[in-house]
Amino acid sequence: MSSIIIEVCDLDDLKKKKSITRYYEDLKDEVTTYLKYGAFTSFSTVCPHMGGYVSLVDDVSEIKRCKWHGREFSKGGEVLNSKAKICLTHYETYVRGDKVFISYDR
Ligand code: FES
Repeated sequence: MSSIIIEVCDLDDLKKKKSITRYYEDLKDEVTTYLKYGAFTSFSTVCPHMGGYVSLVDDVSEIKRCKWHGREFSKGGEVLNSKAKICLTHYETYVRGDKVFISYDR
């Protein structure tokens, strides 16, 4: 297994914008990275059901929802309103120096 490490942005940019959504060719995925209560989270915006767009809908609980069929995902990516076991992809997110990175094991 190998890890992919990708620079997302400057930490100051993320603090100003609150979230950054971007497509990463290396991951073949569009990812939203956000800072909440001092913690960083990154998740795929591509729904594991049929590829609908997933976005953060509740700032407090950090629930995400797909715009196509309404599946909701927990802070950690588990499906909340379906018996489906597939999870929304989350990426490890961390800061080194003044940069934000995500990583993913393949
Ligand atoms: S594509 Fe997201 S719930 Fe169906």
